[in-house]
Amino acid sequence: MKNAFLKFFILPLLITGLLSCVHPETAPSDRQQDLEKLVEKSTQQKETLSEDAHPLAFDYLPKAKQGYVDWVEALRQGIIHPRENLTGDPNVPTMPPLDFNIIFQAKGDIPDVVYPHRPHTEWLDCRNCHPGIFKMQAGSNPVTMEKIIQGEFCGRCHGKVAFPLSDCTRCHSKPKS
Ligand code: HEC
Ligand code: HEC
Ligand code: HEC
Repeated sequence: MKNAFLKFFILPLLITGLLSCVHPETAPSDRQQDLEKLVEKSTQQKETLSEDAHPLAFDYLPKAKQGYVDWVEALRQGIIHPRENLTGDPNVPTMPPLDFNIIFQAKGDIPDVVYPHRPHTEWLDCRNCHPGIFKMQAGSNPVTMEKIIQGEFCGRCHGKVAFPLSDCTRCHSKPKS
């Protein structure tokens, strides 16, 4: 009886106690580095996959500093001409791109985030984001970097079908004033 108590109650308690000493709470100053590691971990596998895919076709397209294809620049330079709609019918009315930015004031020392509507609405419809991913009101969405890495908000596309999360400064582009 005494033995069973030791085995099933005291021992597990001791072990979890010891483990929590080995892994103390991370200091908040290491936050940025932690996020970088999280992003690296979540993108490693996907990046190896995309490097192997269509290497020849990608040769003709402009690249971002990190070496991946810069689709926004490819469109700007007129190298690619995506269809306006599925049928390719020029008479189907299309929505012109919307040209205004939203600034997200990021917590900590990292530069603020500029979300530009223009390059998004050149590819996407309002309904791709509103209201499913983002409520249509500045400041009304509880966006954090962790949620993005977990695939919410900007992470619904970035790191999946749009440029990778490892390119921090492409989003964090506005130095703190
Ligand atoms: C790729 C995603 C995305 C697409 C597509 C998109 N938006 Fe947005 N929109 C956002 C984000 C992000 C915000 C800011 C939300 C926040 O601050 O929490 C926003 C905010 C807004 C706001 C609020 C502005 C304010 O000052 O309160 C309006 C209005 C808006 N969008 C209109 C549109 C319209 C119209 C379209 C289509 C032409 C469109 N959006 C397409 C992501 C998108
Ligand atoms: C519905 C999908 C989707 C969501 C959600 C989304 N993006 Fe994008 N984003 C794209 C696509 C597609 C592009 C263009 C292709 C690319 O760059 O990979 C793009 C491009 C960009 C660019 C490049 C602009 C340029 O001029 O080079 C920035 C910056 C950006 N997104 C920031 C954000 C931020 C910040 C959020 C969240 C607030 C966000 N995006 C949410 C799909 C999305
Ligand atoms: C696709 C756009 C995008 C990319 C790429 C991106 N971020 Fe963010 N980040 C955001 C947005 C949006 C916020 C939310 C700002 C706010 O608080 O409203 C944010 C917030 C943050 C914050 C503030 C604290 C927090 O947890 O919300 C830190 C720190 C941060 N990001 C670090 C990074 C680092 C490091 C990288 C690169 C490894 C990175 N981000 C890449 C969009 C991005």
